[in-house]
Amino acid sequence: MLRVRDLTVRFQTGEASFSAVDRISFDLGHGEALGLIGESGSGKTTVALSLLRLLPSGAQVSGRVELSGEDLLGLGPDALNRIRGRRIAMVFHDPLAALNPVLRIGTQISEAVRAHQSVDRRGARTMTLELLRAVGLTANDADRYAHELSGGMRQRALIAMSVACRPEILVADEPTSALDAIVQAGILDLLRGLREERGVSILLATHDLGTAARLCTRIAVLYAGRIVESARTTELLASPRHPYTLGLLRSLPPPLGSSGPVRLQPIAGSAPPPWERPGGCRFRNRCPRAQDDCAKREPELIEIDGRGLACFHPVDAP
Ligand SMILES: Nc1ncnc2c1ncn2[C@@H]1O[C@H](COP(=O)(O)OP(=O)(O)OP(=O)(O)O)[C@@H](O)[C@H]1O
Ligand SMILES: [Mg+2]
Repeated sequence: MLRVRDLTVRFQTGEASFSAVDRISFDLGHGEALGLIGESGSGKTTVALSLLRLLPSGAQVSGRVELSGEDLLGLGPDALNRIRGRRIAMVFHDPLAALNPVLRIGTQISEAVRAHQSVDRRGARTMTLELLRAVGLTANDADRYAHELSGGMRQRALIAMSVACRPEILVADEPTSALDAIVQAGILDLLRGLREERGVSILLATHDLGTAARLCTRIAVLYAGRIVESARTTELLASPRHPYTLGLLRSLPPPLGSSGPVRLQPIAGSAPPPWERPGGCRFRNRCPRAQDDCAKREPELIEIDGRGLACFHPVDAP
């Protein structure tokens, strides 16, 4: 349904021009949830914003972003506005910035319902209350303002508003990173329900592999602006092939209550900023498996059997 090919985003800051996102390709099918995971600065938000051309005007975007065959990067403002919200909705980590401070929550959701579906005021109110119930809020919450809700309630309200437009795709950028663990789990369950019951496709950008694993059917691992590995979630967790993916898995804490001493193995060093990336493989300076050839050429993402890998010396398959 959403087909992204060779998406590249370049920014200009002062004298320097750099690619924050470099030739990224992925597909998001109907009812699928794809997790885009990566460290801070790897390009997750840039990818999310570029899909609906929400980047600042200085950004140079190339490649293709096809929604049911139509290239979004070539659309004019009117055509794009018909897609924003209606076919692709966005949820960001700061719901307060996206909610209107002077309108009651219920009013905002009702307006979103009426903007997208031909129902009268009463019908919209009924649908609003249903949506609020679906996201775990109550009829009382409909009469409150955004500042009267907790962070988790605001995020639920924002998701209800996004869903009111009946989007086919929900792009969620770190929707739970400002929330505590219990509220986080609730939001992830809510998103999973939208996918399973309403067939909404989800693109989830997060720095947390654990969060992606809870919700996503597939995961793409982003490193320094490139996808280095992608696979079905179960396969990626069971047998990571890229040394970076393996490093991410080893740095995850085990579930509480599991026996044995906890020994986390963080990845050495930190991801380079775009203007300091090494030639060849971008991960090679931090990679325990790097060899001479990794400095000479950059490994391309090669797809075999639905699994993508960009590495000359991958971890052995089990
Ligand atoms: N508007 C901009 N102008 C210039 N550079 C930008 C702009 N937006 C992002 N960048 C740069 O692009 C790179 C990718 O940033 P991006 O925000 O996409 O990363 P991210 O993976 O979302 O990180 P985080 O986990 O911290 O949210 C970074 O090096 C960032 O400094
Ligand atoms: Mg981000």
